[in-house]
Amino acid sequence: MLKNKAETRRVREVETRRFGSLRHRVAASPRRTMVLVGTFVIAFIASGCGVRFDMQDQPRYKTYKKSDFFADGRASRDMVEGTVARGLLKENKAFYTGKIDNPDPNAQAQTTTDATGNTVVTSFPNAIDEFPIPVTKELIDRGEERYKINCMVCHGPVGAGDGMIVRRGFVRPPSYHDDRLRNAPVGHFFDVISNGWGRMTGQKAMIPVADRWAIVAYIRTLQASQNPEQIMRMNSGTTPAATSTPAPAASPAAQTTGGAR
Ligand code: HEC
Repeated sequence: MLKNKAETRRVREVETRRFGSLRHRVAASPRRTMVLVGTFVIAFIASGCGVRFDMQDQPRYKTYKKSDFFADGRASRDMVEGTVARGLLKENKAFYTGKIDNPDPNAQAQTTTDATGNTVVTSFPNAIDEFPIPVTKELIDRGEERYKINCMVCHGPVGAGDGMIVRRGFVRPPSYHDDRLRNAPVGHFFDVISNGWGRMTGQKAMIPVADRWAIVAYIRTLQASQNPEQIMRMNSGTTPAATSTPAPAASPAAQTTGGAR
């Protein structure tokens, strides 16, 4: 303990000289503490209320919610006419439809009457007669697999129209090996698979576009396998079947013409 006031003052003066204003330092700290505590309290209140406007919490409408903003009460707007989802432009018309550019909806298809008295279409004016994708072994292999899954039950293993359910009473499809279907353009087969034909239902919901072409390629292979003498109409560069070796006389459909395309 210091003895008296005078000594106390002297010591303080010495300390002040050495360390700066001690009194000032001591006197300032409670104020600083208050400021600090105050800052923390404000920060705590601000964060503790749960009001945080981060970017992920922006005010927005969920799809199909209602809104008073638009007259029709819907928050969503209709898409601009002609909007196409990414990857679904389907620019390659031949690939997606099997039809030529600008098909004529009124084009007259030729018909003929087959051996059983049914009227059959023999010309397909809007169908493409060239494969829109390269025909490779892989494509044909894929087509074989898909054909066996999707078509064989009715059309039979080689496409003669004698599938298992036909043997059990289902209506018999035409053979792929008559002149009419041998000369039909590839676009026709694609169209039949996609949209159906007569009593056969379309299968576009089940079979993707590329697989449909694979099946068409396999059907061409089946046709060639049953009539190896004949040159298949794989594309417009090859000789049409009708001008090569005549069809076997035994074929009841041999008198039907391939029709002009
Ligand atoms: C449920 C049985 C069934 C299945 C499965 C089936 N078809 Fe058919 N298909 C038929 C019948 C029946 C016809 C005859 C339709 C008619 O002329 O009324 C036919 C006709 C056709 C024709 C001839 C069209 C014409 O010009 O006369 C082709 C080509 C064809 N089908 C291809 C296919 C392909 C390829 C598949 C597999 C993706 C397939 N079909 C699956 C029953 C079937």
